[in-house]
Amino acid sequence: MKKIIIALDGYSACGKSTTAKAVSKILGFKYIDSGAMYRAVTYFFTENHISISNPHEVTKALDSFKIKFQSDNGNNNIYLNGLNVEEKIRSMDVSSQVSTVSAIKSVRMSMVKIQRSMGRTKGVIMDGRDIGTVVFPDAELKIFMTADISIRTKRRQRELLEHGELINLSEVKKNLEQRDYQDSKREHSPLQKADDAIEIDTTFLTLDEQVDMVVKMAASLMLEKEFSVHKT
Ligand code: CDP
Repeated sequence: MKKIIIALDGYSACGKSTTAKAVSKILGFKYIDSGAMYRAVTYFFTENHISISNPHEVTKALDSFKIKFQSDNGNNNIYLNGLNVEEKIRSMDVSSQVSTVSAIKSVRMSMVKIQRSMGRTKGVIMDGRDIGTVVFPDAELKIFMTADISIRTKRRQRELLEHGELINLSEVKKNLEQRDYQDSKREHSPLQKADDAIEIDTTFLTLDEQVDMVVKMAASLMLEKEFSVHKT
């Protein structure tokens, strides 16, 4: 079957990663969590006290680490210089700084380069903010996910708790709203729906339902591609 690229963009905590993970397993696609990459950069900058207002320091820092994804027992983990940082990058501390770091042009250029090389072979589902607009503007399937803020807040609070952090709802909500605002208003690659993206509101959907929707859309596109090749 002809492989495609699925670009899954949208607001914070509306179920992109969970959906993308499940879709990738069903379709046998590679899953790339681009947000995890920006979180890993943020974590690296904080750990190494990089002054983000100093462009030279930022550029130097960007050349000094390696990011890779590795599947461990079916779970996709992000590694920073060989260290599994999957848990560490999900903390509120990283969440509170990531939108400032991801707004830096050199950071974006460096991450987009890696993301594009990961998508070279297609058969990829990547979630983020600028995947359908900047990283893969020619992606065959573009989805833009939304969900009501109160649902997103509850989902994120539960996820944080699963990672051992108890944060009150108002703080979680404030972080999501702040990031959505910063991500949408930034100068470089702001979060916006691509003109040809299909919008899915997950407020009243179960995970199975949203996964099913994406799988069906992808499967029909792949069949269409396969068919058009045989016709020519
Ligand atoms: O999981 P959640 O929706 O909270 O966010 P994430 O996907 O882990 O992304 C964390 C942050 O990384 C976002 O708030 C953006 O600031 C940044 N990001 C970005 O700028 N571009 C992307 N393609 C993905 C994430």
